[in-house]
Formats: sequence, structure tokens, C-alpha cells
Amino acid sequence: MRLFVALSLPDHLRGRLCGLCSGLPGARWVAPENLHLTLRFIGEVDGRDAEDIDAALSGVRCPSFPLALSGVGEFGDERRLRSVWVGVDASETLERLQSKVEQAVRRAGQPPEKRRFKPHVTLARFKSHPGAKLEPYFAERSLFRCEPFQVTDFTLYSSYLSHGGAIYSPEAVYPLE
Ligand code: 2AM
Repeated sequence: MRLFVALSLPDHLRGRLCGLCSGLPGARWVAPENLHLTLRFIGEVDGRDAEDIDAALSGVRCPSFPLALSGVGEFGDERRLRSVWVGVDASETLERLQSKVEQAVRRAGQPPEKRRFKPHVTLARFKSHPGAKLEPYFAERSLFRCEPFQVTDFTLYSSYLSHGGAIYSPEAVYPLE
């Protein structure tokens, strides 16, 4: 199974984010139920490894904390736009949680993530550059901001790639304190 660890988002925030999901030609918009903030991508593992990961994640201790989504950004470059996303306000507790999740996943025998954690909620992915100018999209949404929501848990998701796109299923939910 293909696994990743993420924060799920409250329904009202998904609704707000859906309001950003238009206006870019060629975008493959993420379905509202699939919007999430990844803490750690794990990838393909067998059932035994999945159990070890679940056990390690069950041991993560971190306080519940408020988090605000704000700003929009992109991954990629001039030639190849990869994705458009919403960012988050800086949060020390989010960084701490992510670091504990990373340590837990390593303890469970998975190789370390080498990329720096850049918290974001992906809104759209692109196979090719949309061609159209991106500035108007970003200019109109640069001040986007949501009221903070309380992060009370994190989730281990499995991901199945189907023809209609990825299907994410929560495998386990871990409460914060
Ligand atoms: P993304 O949103 O920036 O694409 C499930 O695929 C989640 O894991 C996505 O949020 C994705 O980030 C993240 N992820 C990180 N590394 C990945 C990889 N190598 N392949 C697929 N998804 C990855």
C-alpha cells in the first residue's frame, strides 16, 4: 500500500479552498474531499511495515494547536509548473509535530525524507504549463487567509491511484493532547 501522513481539514475550510479552485487552464483541481496538508509522504510499503509505522505513529505525543491557512504559491519553474497550493502561517507546534512524525517513521524503518518540510495544501496539479499568465490568479488571491482552526489529530492515509485520480482513505487517526 502507498501511505502518507497528513492533517485533514475541517469541512468549512475545504469549502473555502474550493473557492480558489478555478481560473487556471489545464489545472487538475484536487477534489474537495482530498484536500489535506501532508506531514510525511511514505510511499509504497508492505503490510508489516504499515503495522510498524502505525505503532510508531501511535507513540507521537504533541499538544493540539491552532493553525491558519494563508497565501497561495506554486511549485515548479518557468518551464514546468507542477502545482499550486495554499500555505500556512508559521507554526512552531506544526514544525514540532512534523519532526516527531518524521522521527517515528524513521524508527519504523523507513528511509529519511531529505526534502525540507514546506507545509502546504495542494489545490491543483499540472501536466504541462497552463500557457496563460499566472500573475492574475496569484494577484487576486495573494491575501487569501482563513480563520485559524484547531488541529486535534493527524491521519495515516493510504492512496490508490485510479483512472479518476487518487483515492485517499484514512487508515488510522492519532489524537493530539
Ligand atoms: P503534494 O500535495 O505537494 O503533491 C499524497 O500524494 C501526498 O503526499 C501529497 O500531498 C503529496 O504532496 C505528498 N508527496 C510528497 N512526496 C510525494 C511523492 N514523491 N509522490 C507523491 N506524493 C508525494
